[in-house]
Amino acid sequence: MERIQMPDWITRKRNGESLAEEEISALIRAYTLGEIPDSQMAAWLMAVFFQGMNAQETLALTRCMVDSGLRLDLSGLGCPRADKHSTGGVGDKTSLVLAPLVAAAGVAVPMISGRTLGFTGGTLNKLESIPGFRVDLTVPEFQRVLEKVGCAMIGQTAELAPADRKIYALRDATSTVECIPLIVASILSKKLVEDLDALVLDVKFGSGAFMPSAEKAAELAGKLVEVANSFGTRTCALLTDMNQPLGAAIGNALEVSEAIEALQGGGPADFVGLCEDLATYMVVLALPQEDPEKVRQRISKLMSSGKALEYFGRMVEAQGGDPRIVDHADLLPRSRHQHVVRAASPGYLAEAGARGLAIASMNIGAALNDPAVGLVVHKKVADLVEKGEPLCTIHYNKEALLSQVLPSVEMSFRIRQEKVQPPALVAGIIGAKPGK
Ligand code: URA
Repeated sequence: MERIQMPDWITRKRNGESLAEEEISALIRAYTLGEIPDSQMAAWLMAVFFQGMNAQETLALTRCMVDSGLRLDLSGLGCPRADKHSTGGVGDKTSLVLAPLVAAAGVAVPMISGRTLGFTGGTLNKLESIPGFRVDLTVPEFQRVLEKVGCAMIGQTAELAPADRKIYALRDATSTVECIPLIVASILSKKLVEDLDALVLDVKFGSGAFMPSAEKAAELAGKLVEVANSFGTRTCALLTDMNQPLGAAIGNALEVSEAIEALQGGGPADFVGLCEDLATYMVVLALPQEDPEKVRQRISKLMSSGKALEYFGRMVEAQGGDPRIVDHADLLPRSRHQHVVRAASPGYLAEAGARGLAIASMNIGAALNDPAVGLVVHKKVADLVEKGEPLCTIHYNKEALLSQVLPSVEMSFRIRQEKVQPPALVAGIIGAKPGK
């Protein structure tokens, strides 16, 4: 049996030394089994936060977190599997489109998603705004939906990556979340249990993301791609700008509604474009012999023809939700009131601050678990704006909250007289490229 030498492991990490794979493995196993107290683990995490980890340590940490629970075997599906993970953004409802879209293209999507974290929305919270939709499927139920539909979306269960569940809660409580090796091991431990052939990462930067700059996002993306590839999962990462919300809608039911609009062949251009980019990478990495250009065309067609929407409806039904929402978005929760915020002056939109708008959406009721509330932003950065034109509609239920959030919504928009260059949504791609 390994000896648990926690004070020594804390001291060495604190002093900037590296730990051997066996030591990291013993540490993670003991903590998951409750043999190391939170106080010692917290001290070790803080030491890692300040001293970092080298490549071998990060790989070892990821491996033992993956091995802490069940690893799915999806070989019986008889088709390749791919998934996408976003590091969290504002208005990011791409997962809702990607799972059915990529399944419709012949690549299964076993998606294990997360909940709202800080000001960024969680896919599970969005799905739960669909009447009846169950995100708490057991592993056998999850596999049955995958076999039937080709895609399924659930939350982390106690059997999958249990080490991350415990360590993440402690990191959240000890301010040790923003640490690249810990983020890499945490994200990948949940994705690598899904038995994937391909993984596409959407690493976001800017005011509406956890990574402040494109450089920081590139550093995280590089580490994620390196570690995932070393597990044999073909992986690439897109670096995407999260300074303004993605698409128009922010808020659980509003975002489901916008995802359905995209699956009906409509929806905001930036959101639809990103869904098509991510889906193309997922399919091309999963089926490397395919021609990327042809895949891209097929993906566009699956969106415009309603085929991907059909898969979405089947997944909703298989997971207990009301499939009529596909044609009747009015069956989703809707707020009683709307307030339109208008431009105070004419000009070009220079800023639609993602973080301020996301916090306003939380404060208007999303933080109180009201699925109907949120914001719909009507303009994108660089758009020409007339005085009095709608910039944003606030959807709310509690009158008293409106006056509280209104100033922060108004302050999130900045209009200037000079022309503004539209920012590129995708700032870079790291790792395998289609065709390679
Ligand atoms: N999301 C995760 O799953 N883990 C992290 O550490 C950060 C974001």
